[in-house]
Amino acid sequence: MANEIIFKEELAPEVKLIKVRAPSIAKKAKSGQFIILRVDEDGERIPLTLIDWDPKEGTITLVFKEVGASTKELGKLEVGDAIHDLVGPLGKPSEIALHSKVCVIGRGVAIAAAYERAKKMKEAGNNVTAIISARTAKQLIFKDQLRGVCDKLYIVTDDGSEGAKGYANDFLRTLLESGERFDLVYAVGAATLMRSISETTKPYKIKTIVSLNSLMVDGTGMCGCCRVTVGGKPMFACVDGPDFDAHLVDFEEFRARIHMYDEEERVALKIAGECGCKS
Ligand SMILES: Cc1cc2nc3c(=O)[nH]c(=O)nc-3n(C[C@H](O)[C@H](O)[C@H](O)COP(=O)(O)OP(=O)(O)OC[C@H]3O[C@@H](n4cnc5c(N)ncnc54)[C@H](O)[C@@H]3O)c2cc1C
Ligand code: FES
Repeated sequence: MANEIIFKEELAPEVKLIKVRAPSIAKKAKSGQFIILRVDEDGERIPLTLIDWDPKEGTITLVFKEVGASTKELGKLEVGDAIHDLVGPLGKPSEIALHSKVCVIGRGVAIAAAYERAKKMKEAGNNVTAIISARTAKQLIFKDQLRGVCDKLYIVTDDGSEGAKGYANDFLRTLLESGERFDLVYAVGAATLMRSISETTKPYKIKTIVSLNSLMVDGTGMCGCCRVTVGGKPMFACVDGPDFDAHLVDFEEFRARIHMYDEEERVALKIAGECGCKS
C-alpha cells in the first residue's frame, strides 16, 4: 500500500519516528531535503525533514514532534495505516563536502536532522563533532546513532539532567574560547537556537549553515509563505533552501513570520481537542 507506515517508535515524549513506504521519494532523496504530507484529504500540509531513506526497501524515515493539530493527527496513525499523500523530495540538498572539521548542532526533535547531516559529513571524510541539546535528558534522541558517526559528541541540557548544564550556544562559545576551531558549523532547531549559534560563530568568521523551518504551504516556490530575507534579498526556504548562510539571514523577520499564525493554530488545536476531529 502506498504511503503505508511500516514501523513506528516513540523516541521521547510526543516525539515519534515512522518508517513509510515511499519508493519514488526514497530513490531520489538527498541530505537536507524534506517532504510535505497530509494525514488525510482535508489535512494541513506538514513539512518534515527526511531523516533516512532506503532506495532498495523503498522506505523513508521521518521524526516529528506533536506540536499542534496536524502533527497530533499524524501521531495517531499506527503501523498498517497509510498517510493520505506525500510529496518530495523537496528543497535544495545540503552541500556535503570535505571541510575538515565540522560541528553539527541540533536541539530537541531536530537532533534527528542533525544526525542525518553528521552521518553524511562523516561519510564525506570530515572530522565531525556534534553538540546536542534539549530541555531535559528525556528529550534527548539519537544519542547512540550520533556516537556511531561522530568523532566527539557533547550533550547539553537546560536543567543539567544529562551532560553540561546550559545552552548549546554558550557551550560552543566556551569551546571556541578554549581554542577549538571548526571549518563549518551546521545548526538545526528552533529559530532562537539557530540565531544564537549564528551570533556565536560570527566573530570567529566560521562558515555557518542553518536549516530554516519556515511556515510552508505548497513547497514549490508559488505561495510565498516561506519567504525569508537572506543577504538583503528575498528567498523562498522551500526552493532556495532550507539551508542558508546563517550570517546573512534576517532572523528578526524569520522569527516574526513563523509565529504569524500562533493564535489561529491555538484555536485549531483547541477545536480538534474538543470535537476529536481536525480543525
Ligand atoms: C523544511 C521543514 C522541515 C521540518 N522538519 C521537521 C521535522 O523533521 N520534524 C518536526 O517535528 N518538525 C519539522 N518541521 C516543523 C513542522 O513542519 C511543524 O511542526 C508542523 O507543520 C506543525 O504543524 P501542526 O499543525 O501540528 O502545528 P501548528 O498548529 O501549525 O503549530 C503549533 C505550534 O508550532 C509552531 N510551528 C508550526 N510550524 C512551525 C515551524 N515550521 N517552525 C517552528 N515552529 C512552528 C507554531 O508557531 C505553533 O506555536 C519542519 C518544517 C520545515 C519548514
Ligand atoms: S512554501 Fe510556498 S513558496 Fe515556499
